[in-house]
Amino acid sequence: MNIWTFEHEHDLNATGAGIIAALLQSKRKAVLGLATGSSPVGIYKELIQMYSKGLVSFAQASSFNLDEYVGLPEDHPQSYRSFMNEQLFNHIDMNMNLTHVPNGNATDLTAECAHYEQLVNDHGPVDIQLLGIGHNGHIGFNEPGASLTSGTHVVDLKDETRKANARFFDSPSDVPKQAMTMGVGSILKAKQILLVARGEDKAEIIRTALTGPITTECPASLLQCHPNVIVLLDRGAGRLM
Ligand code: F6R
Repeated sequence: MNIWTFEHEHDLNATGAGIIAALLQSKRKAVLGLATGSSPVGIYKELIQMYSKGLVSFAQASSFNLDEYVGLPEDHPQSYRSFMNEQLFNHIDMNMNLTHVPNGNATDLTAECAHYEQLVNDHGPVDIQLLGIGHNGHIGFNEPGASLTSGTHVVDLKDETRKANARFFDSPSDVPKQAMTMGVGSILKAKQILLVARGEDKAEIIRTALTGPITTECPASLLQCHPNVIVLLDRGAGRLM
């Protein structure tokens, strides 16, 4: 595991974007595993800049997002599909038909999970999986518990996760109670993992996940089993490392 702590926000973003751009430069049909939330936004901004300068193209790449809320219309401003379109896809030359986000409005959610898992397996393995981490150690929406699910599945979101995400909604009660997420098994199949964390409030969970015991009670701790993980931290998140 390679852990990098950055003094300056821009250096973190440039490093993350540089890793993804280098992949695309050497493999035009790269399969990207993407995340939402605040952690990857600076990296997406940097990638958009690189694209606008002609340094990178996404034209032949495909992408799979980790997760999506259940029951939010696709065009809802807080759906993860809307987030990806606004924060990245609308500003680069990505072929929209090759961007994938789980369908949280499918009538048969179990069938949609199996379908999504199959799609990732058919196109994969994912070359690089971008990840954030929840304060409770979740990755994707794999919440801590006595056991974890390997493949794509529906989860009940923990209260702490709904509270953390309430900042994006008009009212905390608007945060959906369920989400669809790639499982920890699906995530660990990626060839490379790029974990990003920012802010002092992530310092404790970063230390627990990366140096503590490997346990389903901290899903991110399973990343310790992956042979190719890069961790990018700002000074706050890296404070206890
Ligand atoms: C988002 C996702 C989540 C977030 C995590 C951290 O697609 O899968 O696991 O990465 O909740 O969120 P932020 O980055 O907002 O702190």
